[in-house]
Amino acid sequence: MTLDVVNVALGARSYEVRIGRGLIAQAGKHIAPLLRRKKVAVITDDTVAARHLMDLAKALEQEGIVMTALTIPPGESSKGWEQFARSVEWLLEQKIERRDVVIAFGGGVVGDLVGFASAVLRRGVRFVQIPTTLLAQVDSSVGGKTGINTAQGKNLVGAFHQPSLVLADIDALATLPERDFLAGYGEVVKYGLLGDAAFFDWLETNAPAMAAGDAALRQYAVNRSVEMKAGIVSRDETEEGERALLNLGHTFCHALEKATGYSNRLLHGEGVAIGCALAFELSQRMGLCSQEAPSRVRAHLRSMGMKTDIADIAGDLPSAEALLALMAQDKKVIDGKLRFILARSIGDAFVADSVPSDLVLSLLTEALSSRR
Ligand code: GLY
Repeated sequence: MTLDVVNVALGARSYEVRIGRGLIAQAGKHIAPLLRRKKVAVITDDTVAARHLMDLAKALEQEGIVMTALTIPPGESSKGWEQFARSVEWLLEQKIERRDVVIAFGGGVVGDLVGFASAVLRRGVRFVQIPTTLLAQVDSSVGGKTGINTAQGKNLVGAFHQPSLVLADIDALATLPERDFLAGYGEVVKYGLLGDAAFFDWLETNAPAMAAGDAALRQYAVNRSVEMKAGIVSRDETEEGERALLNLGHTFCHALEKATGYSNRLLHGEGVAIGCALAFELSQRMGLCSQEAPSRVRAHLRSMGMKTDIADIAGDLPSAEALLALMAQDKKVIDGKLRFILARSIGDAFVADSVPSDLVLSLLTEALSSRR
């Protein structure tokens, strides 16, 4: 079994992302060297606990590590003050100290929540990410963005707090429902689109077998995605510049997520896929990329059975004007111009600071009218 290791180079806060099969079952061996005493606190959700917590407990026990665990309800609604306060107080009750290690075991919600709890507990304790979804493995577990949602919006309260280690177990992906796997795949495609045309070519050829379950192909895709993210994060940890490229597709996505009430109607990664297709369409209309590029993006997403257009979202949606207003809330609008991540070609994205809002409006109007 091969193990891929990606280093996130951040000076004294550098860490490794280890990617391979069977890593949950070997977690004790990987985590033991970080520990100053043989005790860890794990926070996970009910779904992941039912599937994998026994395996993690066994792996830790093999190294003589005592584990204590808290499970929270699954889903985005756990990523708020209530479960945050509960997690922090539970960690204090477990007497987790400055030199101890907390483990975030689950998808993006658990990773963001537990990362933030670790950032504030006793002014900061170390934590390990064991991401169990494709989205968390390729995006949210790497790069140190942690936080929670509030009534005012998503991810508005949080901290940059880098993990000490990330263990991405490819076998955990085998238990994901197909819809969740494909939603995570939206973020994988994003890496090819934003910065690696050869990776996008590879995905066009290999993604169907990967989605069908080929673990070696899955490992390659996770590894390449993490390599790209690690490179960007190490050059721009706090998103002063280049890290914004990771938001390709996200301006459209956030508006569509708000419009669908962050519900099961549209998962985050599905919104990212639709957003990427729209960002390429917008780039083409601005004369920045060829006509072929958006068609190729859409054709690939479609061939994977993914949501590709706004028309693929079931149920009512607000008007184009209302969607544009939701985007403008998200971003600074200066003189009717919006900030977007656009592309010159597949694999070559950039930050565009002055996208005319009337162009975005006409794109949305057409996208919505194709629903009727
Ligand atoms: N998910 C975007 C970032 O980590 O910057």
